[in-house]
Amino acid sequence: MDYKKIVAELIKTHVDMDIEVIEKLIEIPPKPEMGDYAFPCFQLSKVMRKAPNMIAEELKGAMSIEGFEKIENLGPYLNFFVDKGIFAKNAIETVIKEGNNYGASNVGEGKTVCVEYSSPNIAKPFHVGHLFTTAIGNSLYKMFQKEGYNTVGINHLGDWGTQFGKLISAYNRWVDEEALEKAPIDELLRIYVKFHKEAEKDPSLDDEARLNFKKLEDGDEEATALWKRFRDLSLKEFERVYDILGVKFDSLAGEAFYNDKMDIVVDELREKGLLVESNGAQVVMLEDYNMPPCIVLKADGASIYATRDLAAAMYRKKTYDFYKSVYVVGTPQALHFKQVFKVLELADHEWAKDCVHVGFGLVKFADRKLSTRNGEVVLLDDLLRESIEKTLEVINEKNPELENKEEVAKKIGVGAVIFTYLKNSREKDIVFDWKEILSFDGETGPYVQYSYARGNSILNRAGNCSGNVDYSKLSSKEEFELVKTLANFNNQITLALDKLEPSILTRYVIEVAKSFNKFYNAHSVLNLEDDELKATRLNLVKATLQVIKNGLELLGIDVVEKM
Ligand code: ARG
Repeated sequence: MDYKKIVAELIKTHVDMDIEVIEKLIEIPPKPEMGDYAFPCFQLSKVMRKAPNMIAEELKGAMSIEGFEKIENLGPYLNFFVDKGIFAKNAIETVIKEGNNYGASNVGEGKTVCVEYSSPNIAKPFHVGHLFTTAIGNSLYKMFQKEGYNTVGINHLGDWGTQFGKLISAYNRWVDEEALEKAPIDELLRIYVKFHKEAEKDPSLDDEARLNFKKLEDGDEEATALWKRFRDLSLKEFERVYDILGVKFDSLAGEAFYNDKMDIVVDELREKGLLVESNGAQVVMLEDYNMPPCIVLKADGASIYATRDLAAAMYRKKTYDFYKSVYVVGTPQALHFKQVFKVLELADHEWAKDCVHVGFGLVKFADRKLSTRNGEVVLLDDLLRESIEKTLEVINEKNPELENKEEVAKKIGVGAVIFTYLKNSREKDIVFDWKEILSFDGETGPYVQYSYARGNSILNRAGNCSGNVDYSKLSSKEEFELVKTLANFNNQITLALDKLEPSILTRYVIEVAKSFNKFYNAHSVLNLEDDELKATRLNLVKATLQVIKNGLELLGIDVVEKM
């Protein structure tokens, strides 16, 4: 059992408070001298009309210390010093027993969470910026799943808009079919850029493009077939990258999906008196909320990006009846989402409060040596490939005999990139620097992976150890710190989901690896006379590896057994 629960239950026998409330109040003190858990008595003081210090002192006097090293009171806090042996036994046995399931909970049971992520635009390059939303969303999705929520992963593809009218015009004039089959997005981008150049000289092209988009909107067969082809070709390229990343979606309902679902939204807003005319357009005024108006229909009656998002939000509520609907989209779109959520709220959808925008920063490069096929943007595909290649070079140098080198290089290389994206709080920009990212020491993916492989090799070399496990032997500072870190996994997942911030988990995984290396550098595991100590430390290693594996898994990163 979770030790925190034991503490909470002990407190519960002495105070009149719900166990859940007690558990929430329990803190992990900042210093080991202050114990392992602390219970603040401020809240009790209000109910009991007594000074918190006094309550803490009385509680201390009343409690039996069975299962604890000692219980003390420090001012208004009741401080619990756990029995290290019992704590270690609880923690390690739980990890080993639960295995890949360790960290799971059922707090989300019966609740559905929609997580929208990735959402690239059709016929546009899938670039390094897209990995932010893809990696964050994928990780949040996995964490929600781990906590027992029903999860719906949605890729809201940018597959609609006036640019498709332009693409059709460009296609009819300049496409190179062979190039289109070989590298679809490159070719679509080429003709799209050409369209803009030509249209500057010949504005009638824009009229033609508008007409083509109108045809598409009206369901014209030829236009629709072309649109579908652009979409399929682009998706095929995106899928290749998703495969490398190991990312999946439950729904690919993109913007086009909402074409026939917008009229009712517009009608509803009109009926509720929210639509007003402004320069011919239909808008919802938001000046009371210090925001510019949300345009719902343009002057020509066409819907826009926001209209599709309004329709998408309502569709998701109706279809999935979500408890929460999360949008992982770059911070520059923060205002757009604030407007959309506000309009939903004004239309009396009380669930608008359950829609959350999760923003993130930009990707920059320390050295611009990265190959760019497409002008300024760096393709994600190229970035991943380069990372895999560089990792393979390192393996060839350090461990040329390794089996499945390519496979290992792929996992480490891709993992290193994902790790970098998830390492700092998401609103921060990242500066990409190969030396740092692929380094085996420092706070990197390869460092964590290496710690895992190192632990694995210890277990392999140990073979069968016949000693009896005795957790009271794990009494050193390094051992206890590691055990405590392992026991903290669930808390960190909960915290990461509270803040919708995978970096909390990334930092935690780094903590586990660091703590493990500190332990391993200070204590021998294999060269021990004491068989019991050896068996016990081996279990500690085993539990550590399980936690690293489960933690990386939630970040979307695979471990390797050897490297
Ligand atoms: N396709 C958009 C872009 O690349 C992102 C879509 C974000 N999601 C949404 N529901 N609007 O900018």
